[in-house]
Amino acid sequence: MLLTLPDIQKKYNLYAKEHPFNFEPKELYEPIEYILNVGGKRLRPALVLMAANLFENEIDSALPAAYAIEVFHNFTLVHDDIMDEAPLRRGQPTIHTKYDTNVAILSGDVMLIYAYKYLLEAPSATLAQVIKSFNQFAIAVCEGQQMDVNFESRNDVTIEEYIKMIELKTAALIAGALRIGAYMVTADEQDAFHLSEFGRNIGIAFQLQDDILDTFGDPEKFGKKVGGDIAQNKKTYLVLKSLQLADEATASELHQWLSTKPKDESAKIEAVKNIFTRLDIKKHASTIKNKYLDEAYYHLDAIKVSDERKQYLRLFGETLVYRNI
Ligand code: IPE
Ligand code: IPE
Ligand code: MG
Ligand code: MG
Ligand code: MG
Repeated sequence: MLLTLPDIQKKYNLYAKEHPFNFEPKELYEPIEYILNVGGKRLRPALVLMAANLFENEIDSALPAAYAIEVFHNFTLVHDDIMDEAPLRRGQPTIHTKYDTNVAILSGDVMLIYAYKYLLEAPSATLAQVIKSFNQFAIAVCEGQQMDVNFESRNDVTIEEYIKMIELKTAALIAGALRIGAYMVTADEQDAFHLSEFGRNIGIAFQLQDDILDTFGDPEKFGKKVGGDIAQNKKTYLVLKSLQLADEATASELHQWLSTKPKDESAKIEAVKNIFTRLDIKKHASTIKNKYLDEAYYHLDAIKVSDERKQYLRLFGETLVYRNI
């Protein structure tokens, strides 16, 4: 049966609930339970299952892999929040602030290992392929994360470099979730390729939207600290496009703000946000997001299953890019 998104989510949530991290020592596992249950959109496991459901009606065998991907994703967030000095995630204190940094490091580490534990439950015929693919995009995430950090202290980052960075840190996992979903039901390689390209393009647009929300999101809904990227001197699309469009004085003002970390960051956040607004950066970001969305749909269209079976994935892709949380 072709499952709707709510059906898929119900299935996943039940599986996750039946596989809690209620082990000892509790100092290691309690933070994991906390972060996994505090919310989160759980998009990536939905993508694994939707990818499998494109090709087959029965998708229960893909549940452990879906869980593995979400646990891995949460591991990356726990470590990302240390790196980004982020106080809030999903509207709640981040693990390194609620507990401490050592806890966040080790709980994160063990989550990565549990991700492999669940991946190993994949059907044996596809297991090697699954692990190989997972390794590829897990490495990509680390490479992208390091580039993101490197860019904080650079003032000559190009939009091309930025796109490469978000392709690695974010799009690779979204593409990977879809690819692994396809492997679970032994879809052919060409379809797996197009599905993964769909994910890569959606993933780039997804991170562009994340960067927009980081500055312009509603603090009540967004669940993360609004202005955090500006505070950390992140070289997001908003910054790079502004530098392209700005006159010399504005560009130099922007460079100035993004090369320091003042104690009182609210004036900096306000000033940089004003520059983005003056240059109508959200409109420019929309144009580029739509370009990636179109490219994503081109690849979705190329998959050899009926349009009817693709309908929920198509809709989901758009929601990811136009989300406000
Ligand atoms: C956050 O991912 C990290 C990014 C790649 C932008 P999500 O926006 O999917 O976060 P949760 O899991 O829903 O909290
Ligand atoms: C993080 O990008 C991507 C990964 C966690 C790999 P961000 O740093 O923008 O993610 P958020 O905004 O903290 O969720
Ligand atoms: Mg972050
Ligand atoms: Mg980050
Ligand atoms: Mg972000």
